Amino acid sequence: MTDKIALITGSNKGIGLEVARGLGRKGMTVLVGARSAERGEAAAETLRGEGLQTEFLGLDVTDPDSIAEAAARVEERYGRLDVLVNNAGIAKGDGDGNTSELTLATAKEVFEVNVFGVMAVTNAFLPLLRKSEAARIVNVSSEVGSMATITSSNSPILGHQPGAYGTSKAALNMLTVSYSLEFRGTTTKVNAVTPGFTATDLNGHRGVREASDAAQVAIDMALIGEDGPSGEFRSDGRIEYLEGETVPW
Ligand SMILES: NC(=O)c1ccc[n+]([C@@H]2O[C@H](COP(=O)([O-])OP(=O)(O)OC[C@H]3O[C@@H](n4cnc5c(N)ncnc54)[C@H](OP(=O)(O)O)[C@@H]3O)[C@@H](O)[C@H]2O)c1
Repeated sequence: MTDKIALITGSNKGIGLEVARGLGRKGMTVLVGARSAERGEAAAETLRGEGLQTEFLGLDVTDPDSIAEAAARVEERYGRLDVLVNNAGIAKGDGDGNTSELTLATAKEVFEVNVFGVMAVTNAFLPLLRKSEAARIVNVSSEVGSMATITSSNSPILGHQPGAYGTSKAALNMLTVSYSLEFRGTTTKVNAVTPGFTATDLNGHRGVREASDAAQVAIDMALIGEDGPSGEFRSDGRIEYLEGETVPW
């Protein structure tokens, strides 16, 4: 058992809920970040029923007041944060999914959650993460944001337009690298992960992986030791069209 404190954004369902469950099982106190109090409380209650140390934390990653209130609450309750998993994400497009049909309104909505939300939450919680002996930040990205993968002739996603979603995940990848360069020489590590194509509400459950399997790579990267990587993009090595555990940018 550990006395570590972990916050997972958007963890009332899907992959985030499984990351929360996995870190809870490792003995961490898990803060279930969710924008809906009803859905967040219900998820935290489910995990508590499994004997895990969990608490709902109201957090809409697009709302500066909500972010500030959440950080103030964690400061007051725990005085620090050890693990931040930026998991909350949305996928949206317009028309037939062509990039030329994408409206700026949709693109901005996607970036608000997937990129600016991560930046806002990370920056707000950094003072608390800096109070951890060894903070870990995990950004839940996607291989759809990997330019090398999307243009690779071996990839089943070759030719599929990444649209606002993939473009936002590519930006998230660079944000991950940018933070890792800032934290170089410190005990704080930041990495991006892809869970793979997973059956969740995000894709109408068309994904092929189970959320419990897909969550493992984020759990693993939240648990890395001081010899672990920083500034990398990882999968669990079991996505057949990605070679190994390091995903190319
Ligand atoms: N499923 C896949 O195939 C796949 C593949 C690669 C990467 N990913 C990534 O994995 C992450 C989790 O996705 P998922 O598949 O588990 O989807 P999901 O089941 O739809 O879960 C998304 C979560 O994000 C939350 N969320 C959305 N907007 C938010 C906001 N403004 N503030 C706070 N929370 C917000 C949702 O809350 P509500 O319930 O309130 O909507 C929900 O808890 C995302 O970053 C996604 O891009 C998924």
